[in-house]
Amino acid sequence: MPLPDGIVPATVVARTEKRWLLAMVSMLGFMMAVVVANGILNAAHPPTNVEPIDPTTLHLGGEFVEGNLGTAREADGSLTVRMVADQYAFVPDCVEVAAGTPVKFRLTSIDVVHGFLLPATNVNTMVVPGFVAEVRTRFDRPGMYRMPCNEFCGPGHHGMWTRVSVVPKEQFNASAPIRRAVCAK
Ligand code: CUA
Repeated sequence: MPLPDGIVPATVVARTEKRWLLAMVSMLGFMMAVVVANGILNAAHPPTNVEPIDPTTLHLGGEFVEGNLGTAREADGSLTVRMVADQYAFVPDCVEVAAGTPVKFRLTSIDVVHGFLLPATNVNTMVVPGFVAEVRTRFDRPGMYRMPCNEFCGPGHHGMWTRVSVVPKEQFNASAPIRRAVCAK
């Protein structure tokens, strides 16, 4: 027996709901797959690093003393960049790295949360006081990355910038250590 106009039979409702549920679950599954594939293929990794550090004594000794900041070469030929973020500057405000070379960034903050992000790379991390943020990457081509602080950190946030200068390997090898460290002329 047909129902009055505008009334949908319960069986039809149940079928429609099942279809939409299936559509939603497949969308969720698809998006999860994209996240996982992107993480694996682009070597993007969430900030799982939980290396603690005392933000009040950074300047007194250890890895992040002033003379240790900037780009350093490791025994295996890779590079390590150490930076300290504070309101409202990255120290140093420019570092030089070589193209085609593994680069490890190690950052920490002395005051509040800042953000370090290099566009079109896998480098994107929060810089949290009390912890060392570590990101590994490799730049294929020379170029200059100008990077604004990527986490609102106070009234001077918009003026907080740093630069990463990627130069050809030969040029990097010929650079004086001080220039490598802070792009000094
Ligand atoms: Cu530092 Cu925003």
